[in-house]
Amino acid sequence: MARILITSALPYINGIKHLGNLVGSMLPADVYARFKRQQGDEVLYICATDEHGTPAELAARTAGQDVADYCREQHDIQKQAGAEFGLSFDHFGRSSNPPNHRLTQHFAHVLEGKGLIEERTDEQVYSVDDERFLPDRYVEGTCPHCDYEKARGDQCDNCGRLLDPTELKDPYSAISGSKNVEVRATKHLYLLQGQMQDRIASWINSKPDWPQLTKSIAQKWLKEGLRDRSITRDLKWGIPVAYEGKARPGFENKVFYVWFDAPIEYIAATEEWSDKTGENWERWWRTDKGAEDVRYVEFMGKDNVAFHTVSFPATILGSEEPWKLVDTLKSLNWLTWYGGKFSTSQNRGIFMDQALELLPADYWRWHLMANAPESDDASFTLEHFASVVNKDLADVLGNFVNRITRFCSARFGEAVPAEGDYGEPEAALEKELDAKIKSYTDNLEQMEFRKAFADLRGIWVAGNEYLQVAAPWTVIKQDKDKAAASVRCALNLIALFAALSRPVIPFTADKMFAIFNLDPAEASAWPSSAKEALSRFKGGEAFSPPDVLFAKIEDDQVTEWRDRFGAE
Ligand code: MF3
Ligand code: ZN
Repeated sequence: MARILITSALPYINGIKHLGNLVGSMLPADVYARFKRQQGDEVLYICATDEHGTPAELAARTAGQDVADYCREQHDIQKQAGAEFGLSFDHFGRSSNPPNHRLTQHFAHVLEGKGLIEERTDEQVYSVDDERFLPDRYVEGTCPHCDYEKARGDQCDNCGRLLDPTELKDPYSAISGSKNVEVRATKHLYLLQGQMQDRIASWINSKPDWPQLTKSIAQKWLKEGLRDRSITRDLKWGIPVAYEGKARPGFENKVFYVWFDAPIEYIAATEEWSDKTGENWERWWRTDKGAEDVRYVEFMGKDNVAFHTVSFPATILGSEEPWKLVDTLKSLNWLTWYGGKFSTSQNRGIFMDQALELLPADYWRWHLMANAPESDDASFTLEHFASVVNKDLADVLGNFVNRITRFCSARFGEAVPAEGDYGEPEAALEKELDAKIKSYTDNLEQMEFRKAFADLRGIWVAGNEYLQVAAPWTVIKQDKDKAAASVRCALNLIALFAALSRPVIPFTADKMFAIFNLDPAEASAWPSSAKEALSRFKGGEAFSPPDVLFAKIEDDQVTEWRDRFGAE
């Protein structure tokens, strides 16, 4: 039994996430966590809301709320939406909680002790009218690279380049809109990543097995050379720059930069989990306390890769303390909404809470994972979504389950028929399934989700083809025992499909187990051979045909949703 630590990038607190965010990290992490649990591994899946920085403050301001209240409410909303989507976090924490304050201050203190943190005087944009510095997104202006007029201080949304607020042309305050801004000197702490170049490079180069997208982004950052990075900000909301309870002199009105404290929350959230459950968090994170045999897998969108392959490892390695480092990182490209951006303000795209008003979670989970933006960006369209759901879920999987349970109930009654023996067609099916299950399992292991779910679809299709050939509805007229054997085989396939499908469509899988009154916790153990799986029911087991598993999406629903969610 292996021990697997899984984290997905912490969603920003500023509002409920859209389908693109979901498939960018939390959903694939959940699928992988479920797969590993079904294989019998000990899994710990940790996530949290990322609550600091200018996005949180600006969103609270827009909502007219105190930032602490805003974060508390939004955390609960995101936690609830995650649960409704079936995201099986062992803990969903908050980066503003006390363990993260303690650990973030600890890391900074240790890094400073190692000579890796230095105080520097910086030029920052200051708003005279607002009487404050304007870090990151508090200042907007024209991008020096592409002339986009609404670039934010930390990044241009048009060309994607990372920016320094002082680089913006025609800057103005995002708080008041005032153009009465100037550059003033202020002190900040810098993490001397430049000194860590060799250590980070040799660590990254020791990981040839990372997925391609992750490796190429990490190498690009290495090649550009690691830059020293400011890890403090002139903000009130955040983790105070204090060591052992005392503010660092000159930093009384500053906090740590959100990107410094957020990844540390992976550890701190595990501590929150241990406070809640009495479990030991150190055996997951301290290699001197049992974590040396943990395999740690991170999930994130591609814009997060640099922070997870360079910045966070610089914190960990720089501390020279025995913390667990990531073993592999799965990163994803963007999911777009009809080729463009998801946007709350422009009413473009579907957000997690809205999705569940339309259809149950499994419809979305299947479509998103089967079409995950892996090798490239992928475009979400309602038309594609409807066609995938109707074909894969309704016609292939749903139809199989409904057809065979109904047929059996009508002709043999509501128990698995015991008559007849498996023959040639069942042997051929077993062989085919073994090969497909192996490929599916390997692809899940490699986190190649599109390929994995093409395999799973192929497994469902193989079941339908078997039934087509075995044709118990015809055979029953000449040879009732032979028909009984194929019905038994098909009913066994339902339980097999349930186990294999559970990582991606857990709610439906559990409905499928419920047909036979099986306990999902036991019945979902990862199948080792098709032969074994197809002889689970020997005959006599009672079952009850389910309601239709998946409703088809109709054209007029697509039309209505296109209007409502701004499709172009
Ligand atoms: N909130 C960030 C984003 O959505 C991700 C933070 S991941 C962590 O891009 F490593 F910082 F935790
Ligand atoms: Zn730009």
